[in-house]
Amino acid sequence: MNDLYQRSIEIILENQSQSGGYIASPNFPTYHYCWFRDGSFIAYAMDLAGEHESANRFHLWVAERVNQRKDLVHTSIIKARSGQKLTEEEILHTRYRLDGTDGEPGNWPNFQLDGFGTWLWALNEHQKQNPATRLSQELLSAADLAADYLSELWILPCYDCWEEFPDNVHPHTLAAIYGGLKAHSELTSKSHQSVTDAIRDHLLDSAKPFGHFVKFSDSSAVDASLLALAVPYGVVAPDDPIMLKTAECIEATILHGGGLHRYAKDSYYGGGAWILLTAWLGWYYTELLETRPDMESSLKQRMEDCRGWIEAKAKDQNFLPEQVAENLNIPAEYSTWIERWGEIASPLLWSHAKYIILRLKIKAGFERDR
Ligand code: BGC
Repeated sequence: MNDLYQRSIEIILENQSQSGGYIASPNFPTYHYCWFRDGSFIAYAMDLAGEHESANRFHLWVAERVNQRKDLVHTSIIKARSGQKLTEEEILHTRYRLDGTDGEPGNWPNFQLDGFGTWLWALNEHQKQNPATRLSQELLSAADLAADYLSELWILPCYDCWEEFPDNVHPHTLAAIYGGLKAHSELTSKSHQSVTDAIRDHLLDSAKPFGHFVKFSDSSAVDASLLALAVPYGVVAPDDPIMLKTAECIEATILHGGGLHRYAKDSYYGGGAWILLTAWLGWYYTELLETRPDMESSLKQRMEDCRGWIEAKAKDQNFLPEQVAENLNIPAEYSTWIERWGEIASPLLWSHAKYIILRLKIKAGFERDR
């Protein structure tokens, strides 16, 4: 393993707080929070890399946040069931300060459901990686609360994983909930079949007019986060024709010069190419290879291209940024964001985590072939 792999582990460990939370980016003041979404992928990468203690501390940090808000979860479920609209004060937040408190009220919307699904998925992966240790009661209670919350609220419109478009129900969010509830069933033997079936039907219906998954139901445009419908959440297999076509559209419309963008109209920092998404695409190829040996040489080339592109972006101190300002969707928007929030976040721990995952998945794929 090269320097960037080891360095990525180091950067993540150095930036895990005493309390167990992972700061999203230490050098970018706006991101001095721990998100369940980012953190869960980081914990998964740590588990794969053998850093189980770090992953365990993160999961305990999450469990404490959720368990402390048990009453809020119960109230939100009752309110959602009665069809009433939930306010910002009545939902679980998507990000917390490292000391576990909620962020500033009011200025940054929090209603995003995907992170709780991602957390349940990562917790189950943590259990699989550490079969000799049973999850503590604290972790299981939090997992039950998160699963109850998701099985009641899943159908509500909420902000997507890019913290945008609050009036829509997003495919990636639904997939994360699907993966999370399936994971919870594996962990506890509690069934969520009716909800997961409903989510799957909903997602397949939305793909029908296009033959592939889409960002919004009224257009054929895609979003890179749709890769998650197959990897890791498993709503469909990586080689399902709908998924193959989704990946083709992603490659044809938002992969430029080797780097993957979030979506074609993204204007955040001008809409550059994201490290974690390019790694996600490579990860998708590694999973596709398992069932498509006929595509072996092309897939291996493509996953190595993703890896090579990312490695070329590691700059000072081997930091990986959130995105690189290359082939911008809307160049004029780049300076707007620089003025508002400063230089692009770097290092972004989630970028390092996805790079670790890609490296280990490529290695496993090559070893399997020997
Ligand atoms: C992204 C989120 C992410 C957050 C912290 C935002 O710009 O859209 O997905 O959780 O940064 O990394």
